[in-house]
This record gives sequence, C-alpha cells and structure tokens, in this order.
Amino acid sequence: MPGAVKVILLCCLLQGILCQDWTASMPQSIEGLGGSCVIIPCNFHLPMSWESALDNTCKAIWKRGSWSRIQVFDSSLTGANANVNIVQGNLTGNLLEKDCTTIFHNLPSNHYDDYYFRLECDNSLKFNFRDSVKIIMRDSLSKPTITPSRVEVEEGSSVKLSCSAPTPCPILPPSLTWTPGVGESEEQLENKAMTSVVNFTASPLHHRQKITCAALYKRQAGTDLLFEKSLTISVFYPPNNTSVSLPGPVLEDDSVTLTCSSNANPSVDSYTWYRVDGDQVTAVGSRKRFTTKASEDNSHFYCEARNMYGTQNSSVIQIDVECKSDGGMKR
Ligand SMILES: *[C@@H]1O[C@H](CO)[C@@H](O)[C@H](O)[C@H]1NC(C)=O
Ligand SMILES: *[C@@H]1O[C@H](CO)[C@@H](O)[C@H](O)[C@H]1NC(C)=O
Ligand SMILES: *[C@@H]1O[C@H](CO)[C@@H](O)[C@H](O)[C@H]1NC(C)=O
Ligand SMILES: *[C@@H]1O[C@H](CO)[C@@H](O)[C@H](O)[C@H]1NC(C)=O
Ligand SMILES: *[C@@H]1O[C@H](CO)[C@@H](O)[C@H](O)[C@H]1NC(C)=O
Repeated sequence: MPGAVKVILLCCLLQGILCQDWTASMPQSIEGLGGSCVIIPCNFHLPMSWESALDNTCKAIWKRGSWSRIQVFDSSLTGANANVNIVQGNLTGNLLEKDCTTIFHNLPSNHYDDYYFRLECDNSLKFNFRDSVKIIMRDSLSKPTITPSRVEVEEGSSVKLSCSAPTPCPILPPSLTWTPGVGESEEQLENKAMTSVVNFTASPLHHRQKITCAALYKRQAGTDLLFEKSLTISVFYPPNNTSVSLPGPVLEDDSVTLTCSSNANPSVDSYTWYRVDGDQVTAVGSRKRFTTKASEDNSHFYCEARNMYGTQNSSVIQIDVECKSDGGMKR
C-alpha cells in the first residue's frame, strides 16, 4: 500500500492536472436564510478520457446526508415531475461546460446538511463526487457592513458610503435603504453581496448624524427580515453664526459683559474682541466674555471666533448707553 500511495502522489506531482481528475469544487459551507434560496457555485473536472461522454443526456443529481445519502434533487425532472424532488431547485450551470451551479429553493430554517454532487449521463458516465458543501440555514444573517467604518471629514468634502449586505439568494436580493436619505444611491449585486453606494457633500448639518443602512430580505416562505447597521459621522467646520449677546440699555460708566457665541467643530479655541471707534479698530479682549465700562465712545464692538479651520467675525453691535446726567437723576 505505501508503495501505491507513493506512485499516485508522484503521478500527481508530475502531471499536475491529473490531481484534478474527478473533483467537484464548491464552497465548504454556505449559509442561507431559512425560507429563502441558496446558490451553490459548483464546477467539476473529469479525466480527459471521459470528456467525450459528457453530452446532452447528462443530468445533475444532488444527494445529502453524512452516512446514508438520499437523493434530493434531479435536474432532469421539470414541470409537474419536479414535485418528485425533495428539494426544489434549478440547475443554473451548464453541465457541458462543467458548471454544476445549482439553486435550492425554500430550505427551512435550522436545516443543515452535507450536499454531494453526482453526474449521471445516459452512457457509462455516472459518478458520485466526493466533495461536498455544508448548507446551513438560519433565521438571521450577518448585518450589512458600511465602509468606511469611520467618517471624520471637513465640511465641503465629498463622502462616499458603501453598504454591503450578504446575498445568499440571488433571486431575492435584499433591498437596501439609507436613513436619512443623504443623497442618491446606486445598487449593485456582485459576488454574493448586494451593495448600495451613496455620495454626498459633508455639511455641518451632517455632524453627529446617525446614518443607517437597512437591508430588507423578502423570503419564499416566512415574514420579511430586516438587518441594519449605523454609522455616526463627524464633520469639522469653521465658526459660523458668530454673534454677540449683550444686556439691554445700561447707564454710562456701568460695567457691562458681552458674550461671543459661535457654532464650530471643534469648538472655538480663541476669541478676539474689537472696539470700533470711528474708523479705528482696536483689539481689546481675548476671552469668550468681555467686560468693559460702557460709554458713548466705548459702545461699538464685535468679536472674532477661531478654530483650526477658520475664523469668523460677528457683526458690529452697539451698546445702548443711557446718560446718567439726564432728566431722571435731577428730578
Ligand atoms: C426552477 O425550479 C422550480 C421548482 O422546481 C420550477 O418551478 C421552475 O420552473 C424552475 N425554473 C427554471 C427557470 O428552470
Ligand atoms: C458617486 O461618486 C462616484 C465618483 O466619485 C461616481 O462614480 C458614482 O456614480 C457616484 N454615485 C452616485 C450614486 O452618485
Ligand atoms: C447657522 O444657523 C442657521 C440658521 O439657524 C442654521 O441653519 C445653520 O445650520 C447654522 N450653522 C451652523 C454651522 O451651525
Ligand atoms: C452659516 O450661517 C448662515 C446664516 O445663518 C447660513 O445661511 C449658512 O448656511 C451657514 N453655513 C453653514 C456652513 O452652516
Ligand atoms: C475680522 O476682523 C479682523 C479685525 O478687523 C480682520 O483682521 C479679519 O480679517 C476679519 N475676519 C474676517 C473673516 O472678516
């Protein structure tokens, strides 16, 4: 025996291709959604000398089970005869091209088993391939994924988000929706995943906004299922809506405190206060709040707010100064 094994191994090494004789390639396992379909990508190889036996009479048989295998699908049974099949399905591959790709419909939740491919023709070509795929049907699938997984951008940058949801059943792909709808999206089914891409221009309104991608799966049997994934985005922007708040009328020489407010992300890290006197502008303070003694010629101010992305000035405000020497005082 050890001798025979060596010889076979040697053949394999020398003739590379020979090793692929009588093999079926399919994924080791496939996860599907109970009540929906699964597609089994499948290809097979035959020894060269058998290729001529591959003809229109060939059919794909699938069996399942670990120890005793029972036949569950025969691709030659169509129309009313298809009811004989334990598992309803469609051979979508072309056996003449050695493509045994098959769809199985409506497998129940919690079902799992090993499925084996058999090629059977109306001649001496009949073969049970040793390779198998484990089909696992569940009531859930992994959530969609959003890429990139973090978005931290400057205002005005264009953002592209991509949401991808597993699609084990290509005839019932999930429908993907973005909430809120930040922009037009484009869907594409590729490589066992449904993908939706959305583009938008980042604005301060998007800051801290939670964006959700929901995948809604319709099934051949059972209720629809929804799986979703969210992402919170950060937008950096320079100060905006910079304004000064001030108290009402004040008496001359009373002290008054002005406050500079602004929206910015990150928040404002430096303030500058300016006094306007005619056409002369003087910097007078550098905190968020500014306290001064109000008077006729010390009444016009504005503030400047700054963060690393830019600066913005408020408009010029005028403190309403009431003269002490007026009427009331002398009454
Ligand atoms: C696929 O299989 C189903 C169930 O066996 C059958 O009703 C249907 O006609 C088939 N469709 C095609 C395109 O072969
Ligand atoms: C998103 O932008 C890319 C290029 O940046 C473009 O190819 C794609 O068509 C855009 N998609 C949508 C839905 O606007
Ligand atoms: C500025 O105020 C306007 C009007 O209230 C608001 O729409 C806008 O989002 C604000 N901008 C920022 C950066 O907060
Ligand atoms: C800045 O504020 C102005 C006035 O409220 C508003 O019209 C504008 O949209 C704001 N800009 C941004 C980027 O929020
Ligand atoms: C704000 O005011 C300061 C002082 O007058 C000036 O240097 C600066 O250019 C102003 N900034 C903007 C954005 O107008």
